[in-house]
Amino acid sequence: MIKHFLTTEDWSQQDLHEILDVAGYLKQHPLQNHLQGKSIALLFLNPSMRTRTSFELGMQQLGGMAIVLQPGKDAWGIEFEPHQIMDGDAEEHIIEVAGVLSSYVDMIGIRAFPAFQDWSFDRQDQTIKALAAHASVPVINMETIVHPCQELALMMTIKNHLKTPKKKKFLLTWTYHPKPLNTAVANSGLLISSKFGMDVTLLCPNEHYLLDQRYLAAAHAQCQAHGAKFEVTHDIEQAYAGADFVYAKSWGALPFYGDPAAEFKQRKAYQHFIVDGQKMALTNHAKFSHCLPLRRNVKATDEVMDADYCVALEEAENRLHVQKAMMLNLMNQDVMNLTSQNN
Ligand code: CP
Repeated sequence: MIKHFLTTEDWSQQDLHEILDVAGYLKQHPLQNHLQGKSIALLFLNPSMRTRTSFELGMQQLGGMAIVLQPGKDAWGIEFEPHQIMDGDAEEHIIEVAGVLSSYVDMIGIRAFPAFQDWSFDRQDQTIKALAAHASVPVINMETIVHPCQELALMMTIKNHLKTPKKKKFLLTWTYHPKPLNTAVANSGLLISSKFGMDVTLLCPNEHYLLDQRYLAAAHAQCQAHGAKFEVTHDIEQAYAGADFVYAKSWGALPFYGDPAAEFKQRKAYQHFIVDGQKMALTNHAKFSHCLPLRRNVKATDEVMDADYCVALEEAENRLHVQKAMMLNLMNQDVMNLTSQNN
C-alpha cells in the first residue's frame, strides 16, 4: 500500500514526533544526498510563495529535483470529477495525469483549494483523493481543506518554545480579513494542537464562524484522549487569558459559503478581532504565530508582528525542515538512523 501524506489524521503522534526529530536534525545539517536521483512533481492549482519555495529548495538540498506545474497556466487544465463529458476548459483527466506523473517522478505534491461554492462538496476533499487514488507514488497535501505541512511546521515551532506542548494553552483565534478565506489552516491548527495534547481554545466571533463539525469533533476527541481541555468561546478576554501560544487565522463563515457578499455583512462587524498588544498582554507571555501571508494591521498589528514573541518567520522557515523530513519518510529513508548515525 502506498503511504501518502494527505492529513495528519492518518498519522500517529509517534510518527509525527519522529518526523519532527528528523526535521530538527535537518535544521542543523541541511545538505544531504539521501534523495539523489529522486524527483517530485508539485501541482499548484493556487498561488504560493512559501510552499513552492520550501519544497523546491528542500528537494534540491536532499539531492533530488522538483518540477513545478501550474495546471491551467503552464500545464494543461485537469478534470478531477469521474465520468465527465470533458467539453469544458480541462484538457485531460486526473486518471491520465496521475498515471503519467507516477511514471516520471517518485512523489507528487498538490495544492488544491476548495472551490468556495458548496461546502458539502468541498469538505469531501475530492481533488486530492482523486490524485491519490490514481497515483502509484506517494502524494503530499500542500493545502486543500487542511494544511498538514503547515501543521508540522507549527508544532516544530511550538515544541521549540514550549518544550512540552501537553496541557499548555493553545489559542486559535479568528482574525478579520476583507475576504472569506479557506478554513484549512484553522482546521489544521485544531488537529495538530489536540494531537499533541494541548489545552485547545477556539475563539471566533459567533456560531457562524465555527469550523466544520468533523474538525471540532476530532479536536475534542484528541483532547479528551490526552486528558486535555477543549473549549469554544466568543469571549476575547477569556480566550486570551493565560494562553501559552496564540495562533491567528481568518476564515469564511461556513453557513454563508459561496455567498461572499452576505458573509461580508457578517464579518465587517468583527474587525476588532485583530491581534494586538493589548490582547497579547492578557496571555501567559505567549508566543504568537500565523501561517503567512498576513495583512499587517488587518489581521495583526505591526506591534505584534515586530515583537520578540512573534515566531511567524520561524514557523515559515520550519516548513523547509519538516517537508524535507516528510519526503525522506515517504521515500522510506531510515529517518531515525539518519539522526542516530550523525549525532
Ligand atoms: N503558508 C503557506 O502555505 O504559504 P504560501 O501560501 O505562500 O505557500
